[in-house]
Amino acid sequence: MDKNFIIDQNMINYIFSHTNNLHKVQKKLLKYNEKLGHIKKLQISILQANFIQFIIKINNYKSYLEIGTFTGYSILSAALALPKNCKLIGIDKNLKTNNEAIKFFKEAKQDKKINLICDNGKIALENLIKKKEKYDLILIDADKENYINYFKQSLKLKSKKGIILIDNTLWKGDVANPKIKDRLTIKLREFNKYIKKSSINKYILPIGDGFTVCWK
Ligand SMILES: C[S@@+](CC[C@H](N)C(=O)[O-])C[C@H]1O[C@@H](n2cnc3c(N)ncnc32)[C@H](O)[C@@H]1O
Repeated sequence: MDKNFIIDQNMINYIFSHTNNLHKVQKKLLKYNEKLGHIKKLQISILQANFIQFIIKINNYKSYLEIGTFTGYSILSAALALPKNCKLIGIDKNLKTNNEAIKFFKEAKQDKKINLICDNGKIALENLIKKKEKYDLILIDADKENYINYFKQSLKLKSKKGIILIDNTLWKGDVANPKIKDRLTIKLREFNKYIKKSSINKYILPIGDGFTVCWK
């Protein structure tokens, strides 16, 4: 048996009271998402966003691409960790949540750094590939049906020393329970199998809903 224990909310609170404070607009955005009801679960966890910031800072990364931006928590966290001269792109087909996100970017004075593309993920990524764009860190966090496509496209967009992160790869733990056979669980199992077979380096970190980290 590996040595892990269950991280409950009490432990999460302890972690947060002993690590870097969140930016005031991150806190405001978290409160805003809380009030959205069940769709608040779309946002990545605070620990995952902290991890994104850690990866950016430790590698001195200068660019970030995200597929699935929602109200902006993950991309705002990335922006706060990136330098002024960075390249930051978020792709999301939902104009309403994009507009909500932009309000928070403005409030955090990060709006000039972030470019939101309101489009279908596959089409927007194809356009970036045509332009031969490269990104240091790529987060895949949109429709699960297209995860394999997004991953293949991200490989073409990743810089040489870049990292690809994929959210929801443990899917509430359902991927490991063979009795659960709904469409999205099956999609995520297929994705995990695909990554396992791929020659890329990979770890699945049990934070948030499961965070896969891939690098060459
Ligand atoms: C899980 S949420 C992203 C959460 C975000 N990363 C955060 O931390 O707040 C998924 C987002 O993907 C977007 N989305 C779903 N299907 C898409 C598609 N085919 N193309 C572009 N965006 C899509 C949805 O509109 C939604 O905002």
